Amino acid sequence: MSRLDKYLTIEDLRKAAKRRVPKMFYDYADSGSYTEGTYRANTADFEQIKLRQRVAVNLENRNLTSTMMGQTVAMPVAIAPVGSTGMQSADGEIKAALAAEKFGIPFTLSTMSICSIEDVAENTAAPFWFQLYVMRDRAFIERLIDRARAAKCPVLVLTMDLQILGQRHKDLRNGLRAPPPITPKFLVELATKLPWAIPYLKSNKYTFRNIAGHVSEGMDLASLAKWTATQFDLTLNWKDIGWIKDRFGGPVVVKGILDAEDARLAVQHGADAIIVSNHGGRQLDGAPSSIRVLPEIVDAVGDKTEVYMDSGIRSGQDVLKALALGAKGTLVGRAMAWGLGAGGEAGVTRALEIIAKELDTTMALMGERDVRNIGPHNIYSNDLLRR
Ligand code: GLV
Repeated sequence: MSRLDKYLTIEDLRKAAKRRVPKMFYDYADSGSYTEGTYRANTADFEQIKLRQRVAVNLENRNLTSTMMGQTVAMPVAIAPVGSTGMQSADGEIKAALAAEKFGIPFTLSTMSICSIEDVAENTAAPFWFQLYVMRDRAFIERLIDRARAAKCPVLVLTMDLQILGQRHKDLRNGLRAPPPITPKFLVELATKLPWAIPYLKSNKYTFRNIAGHVSEGMDLASLAKWTATQFDLTLNWKDIGWIKDRFGGPVVVKGILDAEDARLAVQHGADAIIVSNHGGRQLDGAPSSIRVLPEIVDAVGDKTEVYMDSGIRSGQDVLKALALGAKGTLVGRAMAWGLGAGGEAGVTRALEIIAKELDTTMALMGERDVRNIGPHNIYSNDLLRR
């Protein structure tokens, strides 16, 4: 029996991560922007959706496998890009990628990761997806795309909702910084978090290695916001999908779509798939939850492209609700980050096991044997989901 078997829910992993990870990094992953209203709506709206129970159906030989971007996946869940994942646990991106690889689902590496594209490629066997932020320095972005291609990343995820950073108050109050400042207060905290601190001190990866050389070592959040403001390309537009696709030479998924008109525009301009996302409630506070807008976006482009969704998925039941409303697959960010904080690679594996088990049990109780058959018939129509 592993230490992690006692964790039965993603919420259990969140609490464990909160105990084990330094506060500034735990808060970074858990925060929403401003009032955190959108962050809360993401989970609250999932709770409003009711599943339809059916009985007396043959439940033998159930299937959770599906496809995402043409790849067979053990369940319709990929790991979302999460900045600074390597601060939840030393070498966190490598650990999460290994957990995903062994589980049989895609891992997405963030531009703003601690481990670089090359670090992850050297330490894993399965191809991983790469998430791109577009900065003003076009030559640098071209080099990043080339590095992703050289690492054999099969999919590029182009994030379009963070050309300006949403303000997360906790990060400013905590003085978030990677690497963290070695203050007496931080050292006292580390003494109570040795299982986090010892591997961290042994690692040689402390700051944003994809963009090393492009930023000064050790940015604090105030400088990160300023850096984003000066470096991120405020003129990013739909036409940019074209050159990014040409440079990458593979499928580009556009992430950060929350509006049916934007979904149509993304598809018209060549997006190979879209991810309905409000960035986990970290960007436009006051925007609707992702699950609330998913149906109208599926109506707008679902016959032309694959629609994925993230923001608010905390269980296998949430995955089923997203599939019922038309998503082809889902992405999980915080569930991964909390698993990592709770138990490194094994913690991410535990998070995936929890989601898969909930998915399987719930699907069976809904009288379904195959995750690929989940659809609107599995939920009750719900006023919340109509605007
Ligand atoms: C970056 O992706 C962030 O949400 O902080």
